[in-house]
Amino acid sequence: METITDNNPADIDHLWWQTCVIYQIYPRSFQDANGDGIGDLKGIVQRLDYLQWLGVDCVWLSPIYPSPMADFGYDISDYQGVHPLFGTMEDFDELLEQVHRRGMKLILDLVPNHTSDQHPWFLESRSSRDSPKRDWYIWQEPGENGALPNNWLSVFGGHAWELDPATRQYYYHAFLKQQPDLNWRNPEVHEAMTDVMHFWLRKGVDGFRVDVMWHIIKDAQLRNNPVVANSPFDENDLIYEYHDPAYSTDQPEVHEIVRMMRRTTNQYDDRVLIGEIYLPIHKLITYYGADKSEAHLPFNFQLLALPWDSEQIARAVEEYEGALPMDGWPNWVLGNHDRPRIASRVGRSQARVAAMLLLTLRGTPTLYYGDEIGMRDVPIPQDELVDPQGLYMPDRNVSRDPARTPMQWNTDEFAGFSGSKPWLRLPRSFRRVNVELQKEDPDSMLSFYHSLITLRKRQPAFQTGKYTPVYSDKQLLAFIRENDTDRFLVVLNLSHRPCYLLPKNETFDGEIIISTEAERIGLRTENNLLLSGDEGLIVKLER
Ligand code: GLC
Repeated sequence: METITDNNPADIDHLWWQTCVIYQIYPRSFQDANGDGIGDLKGIVQRLDYLQWLGVDCVWLSPIYPSPMADFGYDISDYQGVHPLFGTMEDFDELLEQVHRRGMKLILDLVPNHTSDQHPWFLESRSSRDSPKRDWYIWQEPGENGALPNNWLSVFGGHAWELDPATRQYYYHAFLKQQPDLNWRNPEVHEAMTDVMHFWLRKGVDGFRVDVMWHIIKDAQLRNNPVVANSPFDENDLIYEYHDPAYSTDQPEVHEIVRMMRRTTNQYDDRVLIGEIYLPIHKLITYYGADKSEAHLPFNFQLLALPWDSEQIARAVEEYEGALPMDGWPNWVLGNHDRPRIASRVGRSQARVAAMLLLTLRGTPTLYYGDEIGMRDVPIPQDELVDPQGLYMPDRNVSRDPARTPMQWNTDEFAGFSGSKPWLRLPRSFRRVNVELQKEDPDSMLSFYHSLITLRKRQPAFQTGKYTPVYSDKQLLAFIRENDTDRFLVVLNLSHRPCYLLPKNETFDGEIIISTEAERIGLRTENNLLLSGDEGLIVKLER
């Protein structure tokens, strides 16, 4: 077996987080080693050889900390521990060592915007108006007749203010009422969170994915959010999207906080700071900060958010490439634990085209566990739903459970994920769609991902080369990736119908090295390229 590490001798000028492929693990659903139906850290260790074979070299774990699990770990009650469901701190140390032993990196989720309502900080804060930690959270007097402090809504539906009956004040929660927002205008909160970062950085974790980075600080005057023009919702629906969160998110002061996080990260060699940020491109790029002072990688969610339309995607790539600051490194994300899976959004055939796009664009790619075998959103019966987003907005079909189901490893009773019934059900199709079968099948989605990742690792042109758009229309997207030695053409048909690439004044002679249609691999291109529906191919050009 070939060992792929991040030390690419051909390209010593780039850092590991620029040349790596990031793989997100949702720990509850990756591998259960102790047979309780929930994934754990020991389970992840068991599967590291698989990840190494696949060629991904950086693993990001969704939260593993002690938590009442109101939001499945994004409600943290101890930032410096490991939830017993996932194992012990020794298990974590072992995981970190095993990851590093394989030349891979490990990134943790950092959730600085809010804690659990069971966190000792909040228990103390809510205990009395005079508590020394009262100001660690956002407390407000009720208005006249008990009125809410302002019109802000929770992302999960309903008002974002909860009245504490004992102390008769409201506290703010952007998400669940079990997730009170910290008050980042209080320097003690900065210190506490910096300590948390040091704790894990000292242990040797390679960086953080910072949860809801654009939410961290709110308007000092807590002004009302404006209503979105032509909203399909009504004031009484209490749906988050009814407002433009102009005063509750993306405040100018957030950048000082991100700079503080970056300064902390910079005290250690070679670590990375990634931000979860759902904002339009022109705002997103401000999170790089001047002179590389903020996030290394503000997550770019264009491929998650846009309709699967070649013109819109081509435009978004152009806009992003054009908007990046001089030393801002691009990145692309195709799936995560909050959004429908790519194979459910665009269908199985287009999912391959999407994989090719993700792994050939310029910038660090992030893929979501299971997408590499084409896992689809699993239909979960109403009475088995557990995600609060789905439970609180039952008529909106927004549960995230379908995209969080157990990894499908093999044909065993519980797909090799666990020895007992998993916390979320498996689809009936797992006996067809699983790692073991796909690894043996050269035409499988897994083999396709494997060859794309291997190509990316072997060809610096894809990791760090130039990106040049060639052509796009209603069906097609084509671009070139190249460096001083190699030149590749990527052509993607984002539609189901055949189409031509008709280059103007350019010749594209070369050999097809990867295609969604295996029969074409090794063939030479005629200059006029004809593509089948749902076809994507990579041509090694003669320079
Ligand atoms: C982020 C997480 C999501 C969570 C939310 C609140 O968006 O990705 O899963 O529910 O933050 O913490």
